[in-house]
Amino acid sequence: EQLTIGSGRVGLRNIGNTCFLNAVVQCLSHTCCLRDYCLLKSYKQEKFSKDEPLLMDGTVVNPRKFYSVFREVVPYFSGYSQQDAQEFLRFLLDKLHTEINRRPNMPDFGTLVLSEEASVMWKKHRERDDSRIVDLFSGQLRSSLHCSMCSHHSNTFDVFCDLSLPIPKRSSTGEVTLRQCLDLFSQEEKLDRDNSPMCERCNRRTECTKRLSIQRFPQVIVLHLNRFTMSKWSISKSTVYVSFPLTNLDLGPYGPVDCGSVLYDLYAICNHAGTVNMGHYTACCSDGNGWCFYNDSSVTPVTESQLQTNQAYVLFYQRSNSTASVRK
Ligand SMILES: *[C@@H]1O[C@H](CO)[C@@H](O)[C@H](O)[C@H]1NC(C)=O
Ligand SMILES: [Zn+2]
Repeated sequence: EQLTIGSGRVGLRNIGNTCFLNAVVQCLSHTCCLRDYCLLKSYKQEKFSKDEPLLMDGTVVNPRKFYSVFREVVPYFSGYSQQDAQEFLRFLLDKLHTEINRRPNMPDFGTLVLSEEASVMWKKHRERDDSRIVDLFSGQLRSSLHCSMCSHHSNTFDVFCDLSLPIPKRSSTGEVTLRQCLDLFSQEEKLDRDNSPMCERCNRRTECTKRLSIQRFPQVIVLHLNRFTMSKWSISKSTVYVSFPLTNLDLGPYGPVDCGSVLYDLYAICNHAGTVNMGHYTACCSDGNGWCFYNDSSVTPVTESQLQTNQAYVLFYQRSNSTASVRK
């Protein structure tokens, strides 16, 4: 178990239902700016917190050690039962961020005032949360509310590290595109009185409409295809085939008005095969020399045409360096 500096193509042993961890770690380790930061231990130079960064320092090539440190800092993940990769990713990013936060002692601002401007909110966020994780993965989501009674408009802004996208019911063509998932995510939604927030002007809960958009684009955007639906008694999984672009995903239409094209390229996919109870996670990641399929300890090259399957679960896109082209 040695870190092969050079190819970077290293499999990870499954130590008992830990394929979710292996798949997520493979995807993260193919986030170039994060991998180099870890390997060079750059965080040592910028750390302000007194606590040792246990997870950052843990050698990921030994998943047993890494996982035991992780379960110590996040007790929720005890036991070796199969976990959800998306949930794990959220906890892991949050934990890594806390360890290397450049501003560890800033107070929590608690609930922020609804009318704050997006940039003020963002500045506040960066004043207390500042790390390489935030540099790369944090974006800002805008939720626009429109009161149906008095027509008052208001906005709330939330930080996100991933977007969880609903999958539309299979269309007549039998295929669903990532764009349709994004459209559904950002579609105007009617909220009845029980589910709406207080209208500032009416000073009570009223019927309103809500629309989500991306206010600030992250360097890396993690798109979660929400295949699991929870009902009162069970969880079901959708196996709809969702097609997605490998390059030039334009998220501009989901951003602020007139933001132009905002282009992203895919570099990693976390897949989920099987059922809710009998599932298996794998990853497909791209490095300078092409794509590889990571199935725990096995690593095999794959072609681009093999990437799109109905098992795609979490997509990792990074902002492309090419200058924005004119939006179609
Ligand atoms: C992944 O590996 C397991 C066990 O080694 C194997 O049973 C399974 O078929 C592999 N999955 C794919 C998609 O190759
Ligand atoms: Zn109102």
